[in-house]
Amino acid sequence: MNYDFDKAVERRGTDSFKWQRYGDEVIPMWVADMDFVSPEPVIQALHERVDHRVFGYTWPSDELVQVVRDRLERLYGWDVPEEHIIFVPGVVTGLNLAFQLFTGPGDGALVQPPVYSHFITDPAARGLVLNDPPLVKKDDTYEIDFDAFEAAITARTKIFVLCNPHNPVGRVYTREELERLADICLRHNILMCSDEIHCDLIYPGYRHLPLATLSPEAADRTITFMSPSKTFNLAGLKCSFAIIRNPVLRNAWLRGSQGLIPHVNILGLTAALAAFDKGQEWLNQCLSYLKGNRDFLARYLHAYLPSIKMTRMEGTYLAWLDCRQSGIERDPFTFFLKEAKVALNDGTECGKGGEGFVRLNFACPRKTLIQGLDRMADALKRLRQGNGA
Ligand SMILES: Cc1ncc(COP(=O)(O)O)c(C=O)c1O
Repeated sequence: MNYDFDKAVERRGTDSFKWQRYGDEVIPMWVADMDFVSPEPVIQALHERVDHRVFGYTWPSDELVQVVRDRLERLYGWDVPEEHIIFVPGVVTGLNLAFQLFTGPGDGALVQPPVYSHFITDPAARGLVLNDPPLVKKDDTYEIDFDAFEAAITARTKIFVLCNPHNPVGRVYTREELERLADICLRHNILMCSDEIHCDLIYPGYRHLPLATLSPEAADRTITFMSPSKTFNLAGLKCSFAIIRNPVLRNAWLRGSQGLIPHVNILGLTAALAAFDKGQEWLNQCLSYLKGNRDFLARYLHAYLPSIKMTRMEGTYLAWLDCRQSGIERDPFTFFLKEAKVALNDGTECGKGGEGFVRLNFACPRKTLIQGLDRMADALKRLRQGNGA
């Protein structure tokens, strides 16, 4: 079937975090969910589940586990035994459980800013020290400084949290980059948590490679996190999974979750199965629409907001915009919120290297994107006129 991604769906008044936070006048282009309806097979499966009218305790079906296994095999040639797949309500929950189980107060957590805000805030909330060698900006993209990465490791560094594809800088790391990161972590006996939640949102020319598929050694020291939530726009249904090959880590995980981490809810599991099993057609069309929005955004910025530079996007629908040359005096997040009534994410949430940047979520109908960009361009024009330029 043909999905109409141009069609705007009213999300105001639906308790949407994204749409409610800044009020009705503001166009929200911040938190990472899409303003698109989810795949039709998901909607149908949820209807069927609801029509059954009984919502008792449940667990992931053999069918769901098999669909996940088949997918990993098909996409990455990755043969994952069923017991290695452990469902969790959220990736952030999983990351925090890993901090709790595999580190102690004062230990170091290695992260690569600018990075997803929970990588910055949550280790600190668990009493960890951040070891945060920044990614290096090079022209319109970012690179890893491997010497700085290794130099940031201390005797107390216990855990590395990788974001691949990287939110917000849009990188999809290459085999060589991942091998070098894994090699350093293995030499220093650091546990790797690989957040691969954006792994299906990749643009032509790039390929996702799960960190744990590099080698048996890497697999033994890696906890991988994946989810249908970003891929199929199901974030509110809270269904993700961890892949843990090492039995010691896995047993600790299972024991540590007991009584603390809730099972995934019945509707989340239902949606995950339908999405992975029958959602590919939707995903193909969604990716093509997102690519159109990405390219449109780049052209728009070039034509009407040339002082704002967009980072090259290999994956994700979150554009990382450099506003440092735009003449905005206050931080660009506050400027665009106040003056343009457009809500973006403040780059400073992403740690080092985020100042002067904003993150823009373009997973919305093109019309909404244009409205938001027109508002931003007008606000900058007014600023320039006010400055007498
Ligand atoms: C890199 C990354 N990890 C995790 C999450 C959130 O995952 P969850 O909703 O499953 O906790 C996001 C959402 O934006 C994300 O970008």
